Amino acid sequence: MKLLNIIILVVALKYAESTCSGNSFEECSACGGSCDTGPCICADSSTVCVPTGGECNTGSNECCPSGLYYDATNVCCTDTPLCNPSCAGDQICKNTTCQCNSTIYQGKTINDLKPSLVCGPDVMTVSLSRCLLTYLKYNYSTIQLINNSAACLPGLYQTKVNNTLIDNFDLTLKSGWCGNTITNDSTLVYISNTIHIDILKSPIISANPISFNITCAYNKSMQISLSYSIHPVVINASIPGLNGNGLFDLTMAAFWDDQYSSPIQQSETVTVGTNFYLGLFVLYADGNKLVLRVDTCIASPVNNRNDPSSVVFVRGGCAVNGDINSVVEQNGQTLEARIKVSTFKFQASDFVFIFCDVRMCDKSTDCSTCDSSKSGRSSSGTTEVMLQVPFQDNSYSSSVTHSALPWTVLCSTLLGLLSKKLY
Ligand SMILES: *[C@@H]1O[C@H](CO)[C@@H](O)[C@H](O)[C@H]1NC(C)=O
Ligand SMILES: *[C@@H]1O[C@H](CO)[C@@H](O)[C@H](O)[C@H]1NC(C)=O
Ligand SMILES: *[C@@H]1O[C@H](CO)[C@@H](O)[C@H](O)[C@H]1NC(C)=O
Ligand SMILES: *[C@@H]1O[C@H](CO)[C@@H](O)[C@H](O)[C@H]1NC(C)=O
Ligand SMILES: *[C@@H]1O[C@H](CO)[C@@H](O)[C@H](O)[C@H]1NC(C)=O
Ligand SMILES: *[C@@H]1O[C@H](CO)[C@@H](O)[C@H](O)[C@H]1NC(C)=O
Ligand SMILES: *[C@@H]1O[C@H](CO)[C@@H](O)[C@H](O)[C@H]1NC(C)=O
Ligand SMILES: *[C@@H]1O[C@H](CO)[C@@H](O)[C@H](O)[C@H]1NC(C)=O
Ligand SMILES: *[C@@H]1O[C@H](CO)[C@@H](O)[C@H](O)[C@H]1NC(C)=O
Repeated sequence: MKLLNIIILVVALKYAESTCSGNSFEECSACGGSCDTGPCICADSSTVCVPTGGECNTGSNECCPSGLYYDATNVCCTDTPLCNPSCAGDQICKNTTCQCNSTIYQGKTINDLKPSLVCGPDVMTVSLSRCLLTYLKYNYSTIQLINNSAACLPGLYQTKVNNTLIDNFDLTLKSGWCGNTITNDSTLVYISNTIHIDILKSPIISANPISFNITCAYNKSMQISLSYSIHPVVINASIPGLNGNGLFDLTMAAFWDDQYSSPIQQSETVTVGTNFYLGLFVLYADGNKLVLRVDTCIASPVNNRNDPSSVVFVRGGCAVNGDINSVVEQNGQTLEARIKVSTFKFQASDFVFIFCDVRMCDKSTDCSTCDSSKSGRSSSGTTEVMLQVPFQDNSYSSSVTHSALPWTVLCSTLLGLLSKKLY
């Protein structure tokens, strides 16, 4: 019985030794200490203290007084050198810094370096194994895009995947951004760039710098064409879900083509007699349950839908043909609505103001009915969006150059002002 007690005591002592006993610093919890930057410091702002609870937010060795290392498991500072944050599975902690364990990569060649590319809705993300790159004698700090200016140096961020340290970086989905090139075929849009990686400097050069092209293909969609265009004519708004549940992101934009893939730019002008295409879409909604429904659209030469010269071209979800001919190409079927607007005429106006009343509609009900006798504006949950399209009436005076007015967009929301009518 006595012997057993002694053994337990020895074990406990050894454990305590390997954790954080033995330093003579004050505990932060006892002196109101905090560790925002650098070593933790007591509330008196001068005494250094050691974290014993959640004080060390960064989890880095910096929290500890010099000569001690942060032990995240036991939440304390120890004199045993540790790496913080902890190393990935293909690294070794040496003298408090993580270094690649090259044994793991022995025999690998450049063919094993398979950069991964994820084509996201807003960014393209490239990922590479840092330790494999290093083993192959490449310097991960030299990763560059085709435009190697300082502004385009990729910001590397690290993740650990399958016990491997991965360096990741993002490319913005914009035409011309840091040398991005855009091409398309009839259904897809391709965004490409070229990645360069230089070798590690050493007396013996045993590798050549590498470059490889990355290309993301996207379905042609209004969203993708807007995201790669520079200054499109676009308005974003929020639209409530069914019965006011939640808010969704609605975008309305004007396009030149029936593919809705070439957005009208703010520097461009629609002239009398040409068509343009009004595209509306909602992102991040459940398209199995909800659809987007446009009830009414009105064009006005001034920022007032009730102006005497304004013209209704969509009513009750369908085209009203009069001064403006329109075709409702898609409405109430998906999260996207498409309206072709053609051949209309306003006198000497620099802009056409397009007002549309739109709402989310329960897909299990009839959302694509067309009833132009209904006025439509008063539905509950209806949102008005207004798009200001640069416009030029050549027939009025072809010699007058219209000064480009500053581009402004306005948007207002009508929420259940008249909620008598249910959809
Ligand atoms: C550990 O790193 C420190 C500074 O980072 C350095 O001064 C020291 O010489 C290194 N010790 C060993 C054994 O490499
Ligand atoms: C490095 O990786 C090899 C192979 O997986 C492994 O056997 C070795 O223990 C690792 N070295 C260290 C110091 O962890
Ligand atoms: C992790 O490794 C397993 C087995 O090697 C592989 O099947 C899996 O795809 C890897 N996961 C990732 C995210 O790379
Ligand atoms: C590279 O990118 C910078 C910053 O975006 C830009 O100013 C520069 O003109 C670009 N260079 C080339 C050759 O495209
Ligand atoms: C690229 O898209 C434009 C606009 O939609 C289209 O006119 C053109 O034909 C497309 N190019 C190819 C090669 O399909
Ligand atoms: C790696 O690249 C960085 C950034 O260009 C440079 O500062 C560093 O000296 C390079 N290291 C080696 C070993 O080539
Ligand atoms: C990479 O892209 C560049 C420019 O877009 C092109 O000239 C080159 O041929 C491409 N290289 C490969 C291997 O596809
Ligand atoms: C792209 O279009 C194809 C065919 O229309 C479709 O099957 C696929 O789901 C679309 N992909 C995305 C990401 O929308
Ligand atoms: C509007 O929304 C689209 C799609 O979410 C986004 O790409 C764009 O940056 C937004 N534009 C503005 C001006 O907020």
